[in-house]
Order: sequence, then C-alpha cells, then structure tokens
Amino acid sequence: MLLVVTGLLAAAAASLARNPDSKDCDDRVQAWVRAEDLRPAHISHGELRIKVNQENCSHRIDSVSLRLQLDEFSEVKYLRRGAVLPEIRKAENQTRPADFGYWGSKPNDVVYDYSEYDKAMGDSNIWAVKAEERRAWSTETILFENNPDFSRAMVTPFIVAAPAVNYPPSVEVGLRAISGNTAMSGHGLTLDLIRRHAYSQLGYHYIAVVNFTDGRMVDLPAGHTNFVPTSAPLQERRPFSWNTTFTVEDGCRNHDNLPQSGERSATMERCLPEELRSVFVAEVTLDEGNVVQRGQPLKGKVTVHATNGSTTMSEISVSFTMTRIQHWATEQATTGGDDNFSCQSESRTHGVISIDDSHYAFRKEDDNSVWTSSFHYPSCRGPVTPARPYFDFELKVPETTPPDFSSYYSSEETVLGLELSVLYSSDVAVCIDGIDKYAALDDELEKSTDSAKTEEGLWDSYTRVGQPIHTSQWRRTLRLKATVPLVVLGDISARPAEHYLKPGLPSPVILPAQGDVVFPAVHPVTIEEPLANTSARLMRAEGTFDPSNSGIHSGHWHMGGRDQPDPSRHYNQGNYAGLLWKKKLVAEERGILPAQSAGAGVAHGENADGQHRFVMIP
Ligand SMILES: *[C@@H]1O[C@H](CO)[C@@H](O)[C@H](O)[C@H]1NC(C)=O
Ligand SMILES: *[C@@H]1O[C@H](CO)[C@@H](O)[C@H](O)[C@H]1NC(C)=O
Ligand SMILES: *[C@@H]1O[C@H](CO)[C@@H](O)[C@H](O)[C@H]1NC(C)=O
Ligand SMILES: *[C@@H]1O[C@H](CO)[C@@H](O)[C@H](O)[C@H]1NC(C)=O
Ligand SMILES: *[C@@H]1O[C@H](CO)[C@@H](O)[C@H](O)[C@H]1NC(C)=O
Ligand SMILES: *[C@@H]1O[C@H](CO)[C@@H](O)[C@H](O)[C@H]1NC(C)=O
Ligand SMILES: *[C@@H]1O[C@H](CO)[C@@H](O)[C@H](O)[C@H]1NC(C)=O
Repeated sequence: MLLVVTGLLAAAAASLARNPDSKDCDDRVQAWVRAEDLRPAHISHGELRIKVNQENCSHRIDSVSLRLQLDEFSEVKYLRRGAVLPEIRKAENQTRPADFGYWGSKPNDVVYDYSEYDKAMGDSNIWAVKAEERRAWSTETILFENNPDFSRAMVTPFIVAAPAVNYPPSVEVGLRAISGNTAMSGHGLTLDLIRRHAYSQLGYHYIAVVNFTDGRMVDLPAGHTNFVPTSAPLQERRPFSWNTTFTVEDGCRNHDNLPQSGERSATMERCLPEELRSVFVAEVTLDEGNVVQRGQPLKGKVTVHATNGSTTMSEISVSFTMTRIQHWATEQATTGGDDNFSCQSESRTHGVISIDDSHYAFRKEDDNSVWTSSFHYPSCRGPVTPARPYFDFELKVPETTPPDFSSYYSSEETVLGLELSVLYSSDVAVCIDGIDKYAALDDELEKSTDSAKTEEGLWDSYTRVGQPIHTSQWRRTLRLKATVPLVVLGDISARPAEHYLKPGLPSPVILPAQGDVVFPAVHPVTIEEPLANTSARLMRAEGTFDPSNSGIHSGHWHMGGRDQPDPSRHYNQGNYAGLLWKKKLVAEERGILPAQSAGAGVAHGENADGQHRFVMIP
C-alpha cells in the first residue's frame, strides 16, 4: 500500500535496490501532510509528518523530500469511422429461464441474443481508445536531511507559494465506471462492458520522497490538496431572463439502440404521440442576474407557458446541476470519425473537494444537530397549474459548487435545472401499461370524498399529513427537463489572476518554511498511456448489456476495469491535507494542541508565519 506506483511519469525516477535490507523498512514508513488549500498570489502553510514504525528502521533514512504536483488525466473510447456494431437479434430459443425478466419487463417479452454485440465491446476494429496524462507542474524540496533520527514521529513545516495564476479546482466526480460511461443495463446499473466513454480527472497530490541510507528511493503518497481559483468582483447585477422549452431528457440512453429501449419508446409514441403533447416553455427571471457567488442566495421566478395539447403541468422543481464537459475526449472522438459522441461528453460532478463536506469531523460529542453534505443539492419544488402557472424560488448556491473553470481536458459548468412534471390521461396510462387495474383504482378515488382522500393520504408515503392523496398520478407522469445557464464565480479577489493554460506562466513552488520565493516557469509534460493499458481498462468483453440477464439476479456485477492499472487512481487518494490542517486549527482553538505549535518534534523553521517575498522569474 505504501510503495506507490506513481503513474506514467515517475517510473523514470525509480531507482533499483542496491541493498535488499532497507526494503523491509518500506512498509514501516508513513507520511502525512496537513496544509492549507492553494490560492493565487498566496502562501499556504503546511506540515509534513514522518513516522517510522520499527525501531531498527528509524536510522536508515538519509533524507526526505516533499513533492507537490498537479496531474491531469483523460481517457476516451469512441466508435471508429464507419464502424458498425453487430445487430442484436431475436434469439432462436424463446424458452425463458425461471429468473428471466427485469424491471419493466412483461411476461411475453421477446428474448434477444446479445452475444455478438457484447463481444464487440472488446473489438479494436470497431472501437478506438486513448488515454493521456499531463503533468502541469511538479515542485519538490528537501525537508529532512543528514540521516535524521526518526525514533519518534517528526513534524516539519513547509510553505507552498502560488503565483497570481488560477489553476483548476479539484472536483469530485462519480465513480469512473458511471461517469460518462454507457455500460448501463436497461435500468441504469453499471456492468463491465463499456461503449462510448469519456472520463477525466485531476489532482494536486503530495508525495514524500524517502531516500534510504543504502541509496534506495521510495515515493510515499502523503495526501492531496486543492486549489481555490479567484474571480474579479462583480461590477453590477442586472436582472436576467431566459426562455427555454422543456424536453423529455434526451440522455444517451435513447441513442443506445438496445431492442428493449426501442420497444419502450415505440409504445410511448403509439400511446402518447409527441405531436399531440402540449409544448411547455419556461420563462425564467433571476432578479440579481445569472452570475452567482457561492454561499449567496439565488432568487427567481419561473413561469410556464403551455400549448393546448394532451398533457397538463402539475409540479416543477428547481435545482443546481453541476456537469463536467469532456471537451478533449469529444474532440478525439469527432476527429476520429465518431459523429454521435457528444451526448457522451457530460458527467455529473459532486462539488469541489472542500472541508465544507466534513462538518461531521468537527462536531462536539454532545452536538446532535443534523448535518448535510454537499451531495444533497438544494432544490425546491412546488405546484404549477394552468390557473397558476408560475413558481417563485430562492436557493442558496452551495459553498461546494465548483466555479466555472475550463481545464486542459474538461470544464466544469453549473446550470439551473428545471424539472416539470406533466400528466397524461388514464386512458393513455392504460395504453402504455397494457392493463387497466390502476385506472379502476383512480376512478374509485376520484369519486370519494375529501376526507376519505385525506385518510387515504395517511397510508401513502409521499402525501403530506392532512393532504388529500392524489390519484395515482405518478403513473401518469412524464418528467420534462430544461436548463438555465449560470456563471459560478470563484472566490472574489480584487487582484487579477491569469488562467493557467496561457503559455509561459509561472507555477507554484514548495519550500521549507523560510526563504525568498522564486517561481519557476511551467513546463507541462504530456504522455500518452501505452495502448495495452488503456485497452485493458476500456476494451473488456465480459458481461452483457442484456437487461434480462445482467447478472443482478446472481448478485455479481462489477465496476468496469476497477482492477486494471489506472494512472489517475491515486490522484485524490489518502487524506485531504486541508481537512487535517483544519483539525489542527480546531484542536488549538479547543486547547487540545498548544496554540501556534507546529506539533511535536519540530525539525526546523520556527518562524512559519514570517514574511516571504514574491520574486517572479522573468
Ligand atoms: C501498464 O500496465 C502494467 C500492468 O499490466 C503496469 O505494470 C505498468 O506500470 C503500466 N504502465 C504504465 C505506463 O502505467
Ligand atoms: C528489524 O528487527 C526485526 C526483529 O526485531 C527483524 O524481524 C527485521 O527483519 C529487522 N529489520 C531490518 C530492516 O533490519
Ligand atoms: C433455452 O433452452 C434451454 C433448454 O431448453 C433452457 O434451459 C434455457 O433457459 C432457454 N432460454 C434461454 C434464454 O437461454
Ligand atoms: C535521493 O536520492 C537520489 C538518487 O540517489 C538523489 O538524486 C537525490 O538527490 C537524493 N535526495 C536527497 C534529498 O538527498
Ligand atoms: C420570453 O418569452 C416571453 C413571452 O413569450 C417574452 O415576453 C419575453 O420577451 C421572452 N424573453 C426572452 C429573454 O426572450
Ligand atoms: C383545447 O382548448 C379547447 C378550448 O379551450 C378545448 O375545448 C379543447 O378540449 C382543448 N384541447 C385539448 C387537446 O386539450
Ligand atoms: C448517429 O446517430 C444517427 C441517428 O441516431 C444514426 O442514424 C447514425 O447511424 C449514427 N452514427 C453512428 C456513427 O453511430
């Protein structure tokens, strides 16, 4: 676990063992970093802690350096120009096993043969894959030298000085296998098979480089950190208004061409023809404009204009939707001849890596208050009807919303997501479901008194106490989507910062806690991953897209390529240095640690808060 494989670029740095003895110590050395986040034109303070867990190893370390680097990674899988996927045909054997079926399947559904189609996911005549890692910068400094005594844990301070440059924030994305990956079965579970795919990740990670006395060098992961980009103060706020038409989410699943999903959309179209449905247009006004600051409220009004068709509006919800646009992957795919790639290029993100996610770590023992994590996005919902077709809302922009930022491989965007529930008639529901038992129940309910409906509501999980139950409307509901563009600012700073992809800019530098700051120029290095490794991750041919046979019944399905080498896997592993730093500050506040202390066994650099001059390299 401790001897880390540092991805594509560090391999050259590894030196061979000259003396087998110190190898036994590799697993005995541990490294931690606690440190403030990085910011433009800012000095962040931090501390490195080294602990050696075996006495006879504690004198075998010659020196320890600390390295901080920004790595970026992206990978893509796309259909080669002109390639055609095998057709999924009706199976010869239509006798179904006892456990045949899936959510939404019907007793007399056709059995399909997916074997050729599934096998094609590993066919390099059909698919192309590419993965690339870019080391934006790397900075390193010696923090322990001359064979220090590690018979007890040692802590030493350091600083990281950042020039007036905005580097990208590190944003959490969902699991690799889920993000942008369409290896979905009919109801959204992820299997080993991957079709079109786009993924990217970046990370700021600390590595303790340990030199043993026998000349061996070992990299230990010591945690990760984040960068907080800044924005110029907003000059003026102007009301913003936006008109947008609601659509059935056109997610990539409609393009997947699986026979089962084709059947479902054909039934929908037969029972509820698109051209007869009402058209809903949202007119959104934001009093203070669509440029928003994290932590501030966003106030607005949405009015829904509807045409007179076969569907009626019933409820609307408003929420923040954070997306990552995979622009590098999309460009690879499009130039490679895959014209339908673009719907693959978005993935949901979770918010910046931030201590705001970790309130639990700071709760006192007697504090039983509720906490929420940033995974619970604020949203609000309310009824909209033809008689009252508008909804006023106010939402707090979460502190963990990533600021809009375009990095080398991808960009982060936040939009205001609108979801409109519209109802169709019971007749249409019967047509779609092929049965009318619910329609009969609906009729019964419609005829009953208000108090009977309220009583009924007490026996329904989704109805508020004292409210009459709605007829089983959820079965007759379509959820339509629309989005409103937002611009999310970084932390406000009067001091301008350059965007990091502008050529010739300086990069951050790590230093012992004293001395002048001289920023080196950035020299990004980009290396393509060997094709064999990318293929091992993305070109697997085990598993099936057949929703009736997805292995869920047998209880084993996997995340794609999880056991394969992955350059980006270690990016945000280990402790988040900012969280450990805040723990130190809170411990000082509460008298658990002596105030201003840099911890036990300080090696050097008492004046950690001293002045540092910024010196720019010409
Ligand atoms: C490629 O994969 C092999 C294991 O299959 C691994 O040992 C090697 O380090 C990987 N190469 C790179 C450059 O990541
Ligand atoms: C340290 O000592 C233990 C026993 O005390 C021994 O098992 C181990 O191999 C020694 N390690 C080294 C690197 O000498
Ligand atoms: C095909 O036939 C065999 C035996 O007749 C049966 O066990 C199997 O479940 C059938 N169906 C499928 C979908 O494989
Ligand atoms: C650690 O060892 C490497 C290789 O022997 C050497 O290049 C480097 O300067 C050493 N670092 C320190 C801090 O002594
Ligand atoms: C939106 O639509 C309304 C009603 O049709 C219209 O009055 C308004 O000017 C439109 N706003 C924008 C920004 O297009
Ligand atoms: C459209 O409106 C007219 C008059 O308001 C009404 O009679 C008719 O039923 C409506 N059509 C539909 C499809 O709702
Ligand atoms: C792209 O999508 C269109 C429409 O769904 C389809 O006709 C076409 O064959 C697709 N092309 C590729 C390369 O998949």
